Amino acid sequence: MKVFLDTAELTEIERAAEAGLIDGITTNPSLMASAAGEGSPVEHFARICQLVDGPISAEVVATDAEGMVEEGTRLAGLHDNIVVKVPLTEDGLRACRRLSGNGIPVNVTLCFSANQAMLAAKAGATYISPFVGRLDDVGQNGMEVVAQIREIYDEYGVETQILAASLRHPRHVLQAMLIGADCATLPPKVLYQLLKHPLTDQGLERFLADWKTLGQEL
Ligand code: E4P
Repeated sequence: MKVFLDTAELTEIERAAEAGLIDGITTNPSLMASAAGEGSPVEHFARICQLVDGPISAEVVATDAEGMVEEGTRLAGLHDNIVVKVPLTEDGLRACRRLSGNGIPVNVTLCFSANQAMLAAKAGATYISPFVGRLDDVGQNGMEVVAQIREIYDEYGVETQILAASLRHPRHVLQAMLIGADCATLPPKVLYQLLKHPLTDQGLERFLADWKTLGQEL
């Protein structure tokens, strides 16, 4: 499974990329608003592309298909790794069809049902992003939607990749992997939660204490 970092914070991106932990980046307008500050968002996307050699999702903010295609085409011109992110609306799907027809990869975001995911695939989406945590927040089972999409895509040989999004804790990540999501996007906090285990810390402490009794250096 590909692991993407769900952030626009350059320091977080650099940290995870240096350790080889991530295959790409997803952003959204909210994440950009908090990370890009006063600077140009377009330049910010370009900087992200310099830090990670993998798919970088950059979201449009127009709401009409024409505007989305215009913005998406401009974003895609920044770097070969840019994936244009469009919302799962009728206009978003029209834009998806046109952008993907022009060879631009598209991530269809704000997906909350398997039916929506089927339509996004029809429109030529490269990635579909079901929002697990936000469904859980309203009392539904977000991971069930990921499982349904997996089953439907497999049944009909759909090539659109499932990008599990809005993941809030390590259990979400494990479930997404077990279901067979193609990718998962994780906020930095969740990425480092995956890394931690108390027995690893205790074990290391013990090894180092025992080594110290040797009174030697390596
Ligand atoms: C995915 O592309 C979105 O940016 C993200 O996963 C949304 O997560 P949230 O529901 O925690 O804001």
